[in-house]
Amino acid sequence: MHRDVEKILITEEEIRQRLDVVAQKILLEFADDELVVVILLKGALVFAADMCRRLPVKMTVECINVASYHGDIKSSGKVKFLDAKLPEVAGKKVLVMDDILDTGLTMRAVVDSLRELGASEVKGCVLLNKKKERSVTCEADYRAFDIEDEFVIGYGLDFQGKYRNLPYVGVMKQ
Ligand code: PRP
Ligand code: MG
Repeated sequence: MHRDVEKILITEEEIRQRLDVVAQKILLEFADDELVVVILLKGALVFAADMCRRLPVKMTVECINVASYHGDIKSSGKVKFLDAKLPEVAGKKVLVMDDILDTGLTMRAVVDSLRELGASEVKGCVLLNKKKERSVTCEADYRAFDIEDEFVIGYGLDFQGKYRNLPYVGVMKQ
């Protein structure tokens, strides 16, 4: 275990097993469709790479760079789109992948933008779902784990840019 980690919340093995289950659920819905997977950088990088490989469907992969935490442990309340251009999704079925649903602001802003761009369907898929009241109406259609409202790192999630490479989800030492 990394020396800055207080405890492991979700192990590599647990992640593997749950991703298999969630992938099967997604396949029930999209097995025969052409899908645009939109990965929200940077947090979703690790999760999405593992999830995409479990989905044997016709797929294109797009990335959107959004930020709302700016390295802090609390949402800034504003979602910034860092790309000049968003992917072309008009008439397409889209599955947005993110690492965590917290206030819901990020997922809400992205889903709204993709709908405005004319996507025929937009669904959300997250690794972690914080059990809390959202700042905006937003729930992910597919969720691997529900967690309490605490700050977590690893498997894509960072603290000031670090710890994304940890293969598990953990809680940081104070
Ligand atoms: C984090 C996380 C989610 C979002 C969740 O991203 O990766 O995308 O915040 O929080 P919310 O539901 O309150 O919007 P962050 O802005 O830290 O950028 P990052 O993905 O580059 O780490
Ligand atoms: Mg993010």
